[in-house]
Amino acid sequence: MACCNSLRAVTTDIPLSLYVHLPWCVRKCPYCDFHSLPGRGSALPEKAYVQSLLVDLAGLSDVLAARPLRSVFFGGGTPSLFSASAIGDILAGVARIGSLAPDCEVSLEANPGTVEAGRFQGFRDAGVNRLSLGVQSLQDHHLARLGRIHTAADARRAVELAAGAGFRSFNIDLMYGLPEQTVDEARADMAWVLDATAAHISLYELTIEPNTAFAHAPPTLPAEAVRGDIEACVQDMAAEAGFRRYEISAYAQDGFRCRHNLNYWQFGDYIGIGSGAHGKLSDETGVWRETRTRDAQAYLHDPHHDRTRRRIPSHTLWWEFLLNGLRLTEGFRLADFRATTGLADECLTERLQPAVRSGLVELGADRVCATPRGVRFLDSILAPLVPDDRTTE
Ligand SMILES: C[S@@+](CC[C@H](N)C(=O)[O-])C[C@H]1O[C@@H](n2cnc3c(N)ncnc32)[C@H](O)[C@@H]1O
Ligand code: SF4
Repeated sequence: MACCNSLRAVTTDIPLSLYVHLPWCVRKCPYCDFHSLPGRGSALPEKAYVQSLLVDLAGLSDVLAARPLRSVFFGGGTPSLFSASAIGDILAGVARIGSLAPDCEVSLEANPGTVEAGRFQGFRDAGVNRLSLGVQSLQDHHLARLGRIHTAADARRAVELAAGAGFRSFNIDLMYGLPEQTVDEARADMAWVLDATAAHISLYELTIEPNTAFAHAPPTLPAEAVRGDIEACVQDMAAEAGFRRYEISAYAQDGFRCRHNLNYWQFGDYIGIGSGAHGKLSDETGVWRETRTRDAQAYLHDPHHDRTRRRIPSHTLWWEFLLNGLRLTEGFRLADFRATTGLADECLTERLQPAVRSGLVELGADRVCATPRGVRFLDSILAPLVPDDRTTE
């Protein structure tokens, strides 16, 4: 099938976000494969890292000049290890080099083990308007098994502090399918989360990622049938409480979807700065992936060290779009597929015919989405479609 690519001048209409990676954590959780390094307090090279981030960002001033940022996301790692003044310095630098849309969403990930009174208020004063709290569980024995640095009481306090600092828009990350977890325990966690006034919840089933401590010494997970019951329980409770599932793991009250993550799933553009960050940018010549070195020391010394920029070839561009777009329960508009990839509809629609016939995908005149069964078995849609050669040019 011939897939032609012609993005032409539409690229300035593609929304632009900024991801800032702050890779330090107090200690590594045994399930986590995110790029994170041990460190806290005076061990953090906070000032030098902020400098490097801003040098990194200045290298993309041409991209920033053409489009205001619709969202900024401080992710990690544990961004809440950074001081409010460091976050403020980064945001001031971002506003100097580029511009933030008037309603720009500015999110920051926080670990409940790293917050003391005043810190959330400081983040808010620095310009953060959305927090994402890594609660994970409300039961001490599960938190200990997950290697978390906080207790359930710390998690409750962090939620109180977030609400007390005036964050209406905050997210709670909750994990389920934990080692030896029962349905009743998961139900109790979810009941507490639904009571906690968060407007957004991310529900993640524990997955054993390669190269993590759990992969080397696997914990005893609940039996498959129990995991299924736990999943059904937490999902039903979210729906009954008025949280709409809009992506595989994301649930929000009306008006509180995460704009930043939506931009990834809708194949928008994003700049990624910081050690180990990656970005996706479009111009009239195509769609590009950028990466930054994972070596934090090298990044501190020279943020452009080992930076890569590769064009996504048109014969895999449709795939990259699909991987993201099908995660959304509402799917995507074909008009957006054309606008963000420059490809013709047939590149996608012809490939999706078998999944349509199997009842996994719905193909409308201008919209594509996975059916409820398709959302559940997303891999069954995607696995047969993996392009032979996914390397970048
Ligand atoms: C970068 S971390 C969040 C922020 C912060 N570092 C923390 O842990 O509190 C993003 C979220 O991904 C989820 N997560 C990470 N690894 C996971 C795994 N192997 N299985 C399921 N969820 C996972 C956790 O809920 C975690 O809060
Ligand atoms: S605190 Fe978050 S980023 Fe850090 S190791 Fe744990 S899950 Fe990973």
